[in-house]
Amino acid sequence: MTRSETRRSVAITTVVLAALLAACTDSGAGGLGGGTGGKSSGGSGGTSAQVASGGSGSGGMESGGVSGGAGGAGGGSSAKGGSGGSATGGSQAGGSSTLGSGGRGGRPQEDGAAGRDGATSDAIAGDLLARDAPLGSGGRTGTGGTRATGGSTGAGGAGTGGTGGAGGAARTGGATSTGGTRPTGGWTGTGAAPNLWEKYQDYFPIGAAVDTTNYNSSLLTKHFGSVVAENEMKFDQLQPNEGQFSYGTADQMVDFAVGKGMKVRGHALVWYRQTPSWVFAGASKETLLSRMRNHISNVVKHFRGKVYAWDVVNEAIMEDGDYRKGDETKEDQRSQWYQIAGPDYIAEAFKAAAAADPDAKLFYNDYYDWLPAKNQGIYKMLKGLLDAKVPVHGVGMQCHINIEPSTDPNNQAYYQTVPYLEEAIKLYASLGLEVQVTELDLSLYIPGVTYTADQYYTTATFTQALQQKQAARYWEFFDLFRKYKDVITGVTFWGISDDNTWLSEFSSGRKDFPLLFDVNKQPKPAFHAVVDF
Ligand code: XIL
Repeated sequence: MTRSETRRSVAITTVVLAALLAACTDSGAGGLGGGTGGKSSGGSGGTSAQVASGGSGSGGMESGGVSGGAGGAGGGSSAKGGSGGSATGGSQAGGSSTLGSGGRGGRPQEDGAAGRDGATSDAIAGDLLARDAPLGSGGRTGTGGTRATGGSTGAGGAGTGGTGGAGGAARTGGATSTGGTRPTGGWTGTGAAPNLWEKYQDYFPIGAAVDTTNYNSSLLTKHFGSVVAENEMKFDQLQPNEGQFSYGTADQMVDFAVGKGMKVRGHALVWYRQTPSWVFAGASKETLLSRMRNHISNVVKHFRGKVYAWDVVNEAIMEDGDYRKGDETKEDQRSQWYQIAGPDYIAEAFKAAAAADPDAKLFYNDYYDWLPAKNQGIYKMLKGLLDAKVPVHGVGMQCHINIEPSTDPNNQAYYQTVPYLEEAIKLYASLGLEVQVTELDLSLYIPGVTYTADQYYTTATFTQALQQKQAARYWEFFDLFRKYKDVITGVTFWGISDDNTWLSEFSSGRKDFPLLFDVNKQPKPAFHAVVDF
């Protein structure tokens, strides 16, 4: 089966199972183990019922935060898919507490059944369980009101095609509001880890940036439905010398992904970085535009039919909302595209891409979208392009975020919050454009803080508490993304697992742990938070 066929069949299975579930109301119910009080978690579903429903938990009030009880775990180990537990939300001072919604049902097709990678994915699932089971016992005890997987008894037979009862994902009050409750902990991961792409198939494709070492990894194909080359399709890689196109590496990566039925984004046609110096050497405006058009035309035609979306222009706007003009204080911030050609290169790039592949989705991509001045500047530029009938279809928000926004109002990352990012999404969507999150990762370092070498994080100092904090922030942002699923057409992580991230490579010696999978390629609390809905 191809990947898309697999997806279809999984989707059909899911529908059939949902119907079965609805019909089997008298099937065995799980334990009602939910305690009351702020830190209670629900009970777990029965272990032998064919369709077990999870336990319920009711939350109490906890100082300073919402604390709905976690819902019970979904169906038990042999359940065909239990319904999740229910959770009653606690109240929060000033918050928008409502009844928590019921937990998610067990997902019988998670392990083995989908089988996209055959034995490999099973092995991974088995590993996950072995690792996560001890952590999970006792249910979640997050403080301050959290969403978490339910009771932690989903010790089903993952790895053997059995179905560990996925935890009934309970939501505490106000779970759908954004910018409200900030969860602070509680994701330990229970049962078998669902495949990310499958879990999100009713929302948007989940992608990852890949390099030559991981583009064909089983972790990638298990969890992701979309890829982008981290560096291998940039200008310097594809046309290092004028007229000399070099597609070998990129082709290998793209063909692998296409063969697996994954979507492929192309990144990036025109950027002020990673562009060979010959492009700008001795160039007049017309020479530069002609070199640019030639590059775009060649590259986009080459990948036509395989790459469905392109980041056509990357990072053309500065933090103040004005163009990156080439007179920036820091030399490494200056764009020679603008220096030589002025802003016209942007429209010309989109036109050249559309001419080369009329079916491709063409994106403008940038960072710091939460910054009001910056998103206004991007909006203004895009509106100008659209008014001039330039073919632009979407905006990529890179979303390289940090564990905390900066506390300094003068720091751009002061605005790195869910509500500010939501404003950007609304603004872009008001132009009728698609929005994608294109380079998501979540650094442990706080912007504006100076870290000395002895403060750099290691696997030892990336404590459980910090992992939960990272998970909570991931949860918040994904809550936002899900809310805008009609506008957001893709969410791509900038990497797969913490052993291979540009954030560690970049500043020498400083390790970062920004992704959903750890250095051993195991799912982190952040992973469990992202699939907790
Ligand atoms: C980064 C890569 O991850 C690094 O390996 C490389 O050294 C520099 O570029 N914004 C972008 C990406 O649009 O292309 C950048 O990728 C990260 C920031």
